[in-house]
Amino acid sequence: MADWFRRRTGDEDAPVNGSEASGSGGEPADGFTEAGIREALRDVKDPEIGRDLISLNMIRGVEIQGSNVTVGVALTTAGCPMKHRITTDVRDRLMEIEGVEAVEVDFGVMTDDDRQNLMTSLHGGPAELAPAFRDESKTRIIAVVSGKGGVGKSTVAVNLAAALDRVGKSVEILDADVYGSSIPVMLGATEKPNVVGGVIFPIESATGLKFISMGNFVNEGQAVIWRAPIVNKALTQLMRDVYWDEPDFIIVDMPPGTGDVALTIAQMIPKAEALVVTTPQADAARVAVKAGKMAVQAHLKVIGVVENMSHAECPDCGKELRIFGGDGGERVSTELQTNIMGRIPILPDASGEPGRSLFAEGTGPANAFDEMAESLAATKVRRRIKVL
Ligand SMILES: Nc1ncnc2c1ncn2[C@@H]1O[C@H](COP(=O)(O)OP(=O)(O)O)[C@@H](O)[C@H]1O
Ligand SMILES: [Mg+2]
Repeated sequence: MADWFRRRTGDEDAPVNGSEASGSGGEPADGFTEAGIREALRDVKDPEIGRDLISLNMIRGVEIQGSNVTVGVALTTAGCPMKHRITTDVRDRLMEIEGVEAVEVDFGVMTDDDRQNLMTSLHGGPAELAPAFRDESKTRIIAVVSGKGGVGKSTVAVNLAAALDRVGKSVEILDADVYGSSIPVMLGATEKPNVVGGVIFPIESATGLKFISMGNFVNEGQAVIWRAPIVNKALTQLMRDVYWDEPDFIIVDMPPGTGDVALTIAQMIPKAEALVVTTPQADAARVAVKAGKMAVQAHLKVIGVVENMSHAECPDCGKELRIFGGDGGERVSTELQTNIMGRIPILPDASGEPGRSLFAEGTGPANAFDEMAESLAATKVRRRIKVL
């Protein structure tokens, strides 16, 4: 078995790229070459970083013995949870090459220097915001705000993200609700994120939504008192140290009510837009107006209002039952001089049970989210000069 990693630190003269392969183990089969194998590996992505193994400099050797190929892959960390997936992906891709009959993947670990170089190349400098949050990036940052908890702010955040994904937009979620961070449970993915060289990698849910949550850094069930400066520091860190792609949208689940976090977001990301969630009831609407006004004061652009739990759909006659009464959505949108972007019916399907917060496609709420996603995707972000 090839061992590029021992050779790299041991025998200086030993080849590091498998170029002795034909000498030691017979001729490579006709039809494929080391160069061809390397080219094919450009199609295999590191599942966490989302870039191909060649450009990440993770391929440390290719050895060909007859129709057998061994590939040396340097992982970012020894305990990389992605080993299995990388093995499968490399094997699947190389087995497509004519003449290849067996593929072996030989793992090693990057040196500290390699890892540091990789992370710097991915991330820019350590003190900077991740590219997605910078003004010049195409990524739109949608901060989902509400006046109080329990109105469905997180439900809106995850379902809007899922709908954007359905209409073909790339999207990631930042759960900034320190007081009631619930996205990991809602999406059924509560594992701790992988941290490499100071860079935090988002977690991917079973349905393929990538997110990071303040809750990822607190033990389950632990009560934490967050003082405002700490919240802001933690939030800043998530916008700086997380390896965000530059998706079309990042949806931010904001803590309810507080103007403080809105201010931080507005100061750091002048291009961020706010979406206000309310229920029909007057009390929710009153505090939603407040939260919306705070967002306006912080110079966030308010793009619209979502009235959640707006009505129930009668299963027999299809009629809308406004069981809560109230016209919260209307009131909030009038006061904030914006539009209602969506009215989401009540459907107990998304029960809030672990992993069960996404409405099934084709249901009333999912359709409402699809419409919202389409209208959001059709609008362009209005650039604004940083005022604060
Ligand atoms: N449209 C809806 N239909 C049925 N249940 C809903 C709906 N929206 C939210 N819920 C439920 O209401 C509860 C509160 O929603 P959540 O999104 O956690 O609110 P928030 O983030 O504002 O505190 C959750 O149990 C959620 O499953
Ligand atoms: Mg919530």
